[in-house]
Amino acid sequence: MDKLIIKGSADLRGEISIKGSKNSALPIMVSALLSENTLKLSNIPKLDDIKNMSLLLRNYGAIIKSNGANLELNCKKIVNRDADYDVVRKMRASVLILGPLLARFGKAKISLPGGCAIGTRPIDIHLDGLKKLGANFTVENGYVVGEVNNQLIGNHIKLSFPSVGATENIMMAAVRAQGKTIIENAAMEPEIVDLVDSLNKMGSKINISNKGIIKITGVKKLTKSNHKILSDRIVAGTFIIAAVMLNKKFKVKEVEPQNLKALISSLKMMGANIKIEKNIIHILPTTKLNGIKIQTSPYPGFPTDLQAQMMALMSLAEGNSQIKENIFENRFMHVPELNRLGAKIKVQKDMAYITGSRNFKGAQVMASDLRASVSLVLAALCAEGESEINRVYHLDRGYEKIENTLGKLGPSIKRKKY
Ligand code: UD1
Repeated sequence: MDKLIIKGSADLRGEISIKGSKNSALPIMVSALLSENTLKLSNIPKLDDIKNMSLLLRNYGAIIKSNGANLELNCKKIVNRDADYDVVRKMRASVLILGPLLARFGKAKISLPGGCAIGTRPIDIHLDGLKKLGANFTVENGYVVGEVNNQLIGNHIKLSFPSVGATENIMMAAVRAQGKTIIENAAMEPEIVDLVDSLNKMGSKINISNKGIIKITGVKKLTKSNHKILSDRIVAGTFIIAAVMLNKKFKVKEVEPQNLKALISSLKMMGANIKIEKNIIHILPTTKLNGIKIQTSPYPGFPTDLQAQMMALMSLAEGNSQIKENIFENRFMHVPELNRLGAKIKVQKDMAYITGSRNFKGAQVMASDLRASVSLVLAALCAEGESEINRVYHLDRGYEKIENTLGKLGPSIKRKKY
């Protein structure tokens, strides 16, 4: 396993250009299963999750050519197989193949994702929606087996919660269903809009309104197409928070500021000095940061994927802060580790209470999930002395070689095997 050794009191200078979003790229790669024609993607980030998704799709017979940030996927000759526990366990986004496989073969068998580091994360909303399109499900030996009598048929579906994955899964199935589907209370995350954009370029007929309603008219065939993956708002947000924490002048380029409104307004409320210019976000030093109260919620609310990073920042601000986590149960696993680095955070159910004005001090810590890991990196960059972050494989799922990216911008950060 790898660990990161990070020197504290770090500098941060210059600028970073943000690459494509992992959470956009994964479902868009899966959508290739719906088509007999080639899907060409650009701005693909170099991440372990992307490699794992390519392996999964290749296992179904997809022909995938990768060249730098470009990926070409052809699923003309795919075969139906089981997606076993090893694959689904590593990457929850694997459940997204369910809808497309049902649409294409009328049958699919995938391992249930089971428990995971950030809560139980069931797939009931995915299954309820697909049932409304005519699929029947049984559970056998830890696998969910879906079957369709004839063809999926469009329907009116109201989601019990705007789940990102369920919206994607149901929408992809509906693209190849017969007739019209309406998804109400759908997730509206920018990554969903990116998937809709790409599917429409492939010949789908999808209309998305900003009121949580997606209308899909099924089509028989999809065409070849090209799509550039949307810039990663979570990676952008992480670097913005890093610059605010280190109180440096820094530029985050190739971002879509309109997708980061909740973060930017929270940071400004704390006293951060942020200027926006088209696709660039400028972070400038500030004199004082105050504590605030935030809560995570579905888009356009504050993203749960930036909660851990925000908590690290709140530890440095003057006064007290609070975070209510509304999306995932048990998404506070970074708290004991941040406390080892000198933070003072207490958790009660879905609430975290942060006592500010803390100085981080270098320590050995353990990464638990993707975004939790990066909050430890941010805290370590600000700490007095050296820190060691163990189990960085979580980090590699969502941040391209962070030691290289950050290393070029000033900090001393090294990877070691242990
Ligand atoms: C996606 C993102 C993840 C982000 C999350 C919320 C990807 C690959 N991952 O995950 O980074 O943190 O959105 O913005 O895009 N739920 C159910 N039943 C279901 C589905 C979900 O109860 O059938 C619950 C989950 O347990 C969770 C909540 O709904 O508590 C949100 O989950 P969901 O929006 O589905 O997140 P993901 O698609 O897994």
